[in-house]
Amino acid sequence: MTKIKACLFDLDGVIVDTAVYHFQAWRRLANELGFDFTEHQNEQLKGISRMESLELILSWGNVSLTQDEKNDWATKKNAWYLDLVKLMTPNEVLEGVPEFLDELKANNIKIALGSASKNSKLILERINMLHYFDAIIDGNNITKGKPDPQVFQLGAEATNCKPEECVVFEDALAGVQAGKAGGMKVIGVGSEEILKEANFIISSFKEISIEKLRTLEETP
Ligand code: BG6
Ligand code: MG
Repeated sequence: MTKIKACLFDLDGVIVDTAVYHFQAWRRLANELGFDFTEHQNEQLKGISRMESLELILSWGNVSLTQDEKNDWATKKNAWYLDLVKLMTPNEVLEGVPEFLDELKANNIKIALGSASKNSKLILERINMLHYFDAIIDGNNITKGKPDPQVFQLGAEATNCKPEECVVFEDALAGVQAGKAGGMKVIGVGSEEILKEANFIISSFKEISIEKLRTLEETP
């Protein structure tokens, strides 16, 4: 039996639903470049980096740009995204998250962030959640994006835990794969269809408790 000592949380789609804001800003970029894409396609952008997202979106629109142009568009998209982030309030924290984090704290389980976003600290501040985190690993600290396990491996190191002592919470397939590749247990947050590689899936944090988390200690 391996005791769980840390929980590593993705941010976007797990702590707060910023995917809608990313979608709005990316869609504005696509529209300005003369095409559109669907919410279904947007699913593929979850968990991957800003530049990887841009490459994928440009491929959907059959648009080719120079590296300088790509950098300019990525900067514009981020500015539009941040305009939306600035309007966020603590009310947008997803249901059950603060209660579960309080429970983790009360049980001395470390809390770390493992996000591809370079805006994670700003977002955590806006939604008044920064104080919960013992470590923050995000797009500013990593060289390899999800599904590479680096972001969660750094989270495990930062909390002085072995991978098998960590549980990852993820809403994106790339993130579930990253946690699994890192040798961690993974709880999928969202749809069964997309996240089936996770150890188990919850549709909201109202469905998780320390007792349920501890059942993973028995899982090989
Ligand atoms: C991830 C999101 O958390 O962060 C992706 O799921 C996003 O959609 C990525 O592209 C990078 O975010 P940012 O804030 O650095 O542009
Ligand atoms: Mg996510």
